[in-house]
Amino acid sequence: MPQLAVSLFVRNNYPKLSIELCNTTVVSSQALNLARRQIAEVHYECTRANDDTPTETPLVVDLFAGGGSIPLEALRLGCTTLAGDLNPVAYLIELCTLVYPQRYPELAAQVSYWGKRLLKQVQHTVSDAFPPVTMKQHPDTTTAQLPLQQAEYTDSARTPGVVPSAYIWTHTVTCPNPHCGATVPLTTNTWLVNKPKKPVVALRIEPTADRQGVQFIRHEAPTCDMLGFTPDGLGTRGHTRCVCSGATVDNTHVKRQGKAGNLAVQLMAVVFHDPVHHKRHYMAAADLSPDALPLRQTLDARIARLCAETGLTVPDEQIYSGDSRAFFTHLYGFDRFGDLFTRRQLLVLLTFADQLRKLHQAMLAEGLDAEQARAIASYLGLLINRLADWNSTICKWAPTSEAISNTFARQALPMMWNFVEMYPFGIGWGNLPDALDSDGGNDSGALACPGCRPGDSRASA
Ligand SMILES: C[S@@+](CC[C@H](N)C(=O)[O-])C[C@H]1O[C@@H](n2cnc3c(N)ncnc32)[C@H](O)[C@@H]1O
Repeated sequence: MPQLAVSLFVRNNYPKLSIELCNTTVVSSQALNLARRQIAEVHYECTRANDDTPTETPLVVDLFAGGGSIPLEALRLGCTTLAGDLNPVAYLIELCTLVYPQRYPELAAQVSYWGKRLLKQVQHTVSDAFPPVTMKQHPDTTTAQLPLQQAEYTDSARTPGVVPSAYIWTHTVTCPNPHCGATVPLTTNTWLVNKPKKPVVALRIEPTADRQGVQFIRHEAPTCDMLGFTPDGLGTRGHTRCVCSGATVDNTHVKRQGKAGNLAVQLMAVVFHDPVHHKRHYMAAADLSPDALPLRQTLDARIARLCAETGLTVPDEQIYSGDSRAFFTHLYGFDRFGDLFTRRQLLVLLTFADQLRKLHQAMLAEGLDAEQARAIASYLGLLINRLADWNSTICKWAPTSEAISNTFARQALPMMWNFVEMYPFGIGWGNLPDALDSDGGNDSGALACPGCRPGDSRASA
């Protein structure tokens, strides 16, 4: 009974082999080779028993493959694999996971090369929207103490200022008291750092001199108790209190104002990343010079011009609102996907979309065949998708870890009363240079195009 003998052998060794297969991420290892051989042998025996023409490679068909984990494992184990899905997003992921890497051996290096060109081009195009910060004199932090961002992605012509790696914002509403009308922040807390055994950093909220709004003042103390104020409990689900008039701002007022398009945003603080000492520095908005942010009108005009020139549009698809446990933003007037981004975030995303189209044309002009160019552009499209996930008004600042969480940290679109906008070209969390290089292969920085035909143009963006 050879068939039974093989089965028993496989079964006896299966648990140990499975553990070894899970522990390896490589495409070739002793465990993987053994598993491939065993599968081939078992399949040969099975097909020989039923057929005159035994085969060694089983066929695995997964027509509901989603993210493609089953066909990917089947391929690793040497099976002939067919995968598909009704959902075009799943299908694209399957192409990028299962098909393109096999078809183009140099793909990782090519994506890295073209991705770097894309980042440089977009960074150059939107650099004026991220003014380097020169700050008012502040006892805690001076410009000289702040490390520069990673040189490769920094516009050196604009030093000595430093571009923050993140901007922490709060949504705001107008005070309902008709005698006040001040701008009220809706943030639930003002923590910047709140980690055990570390000095704490938080913002104190003070009315401005004209009492038409508030300013955020940076405070640092060895412990929470020594801070002198409580950064927590400022509001919950849009209920808060106006610091200028003491009026109660309730959730109904916030919803009404939101649906009328009257919610706004106010900068609370910026974060700088020190790559040398692996530290972060924090600066309150009150300590920044007035030109630290681009004007809203300037951003609106840039977006309108870009859309008119390219035919791109701000995403205006309706956000699903039928599940009250997962979707909340529409209650406050953010009912289209474009509403989930600040104007600057939209400008960056639209510029990426525009520049990727142009880069795709450059790929073809520089000698890549159409299918290969499509493969590279698909990965770079997924990179832009990653940016949309890590840079929306749903992204949250976590003072206990000094980190950003992404939009889909859970499968929901909650309302965030404060949120973080990141500088995508910097070195902080979720940044694109790191995302690109995580599997990019060619991180030497040399802009030589792998796979381009000899003699092709090497123009760098
Ligand atoms: C549970 S997910 C599959 C997950 C996958 N096995 C994995 O491990 O990542 C089910 C998938 O079936 C797809 N699907 C649902 N109905 C389908 C249909 N009629 N034809 C093809 N795919 C379909 C869905 O789009 C979804 O991606």
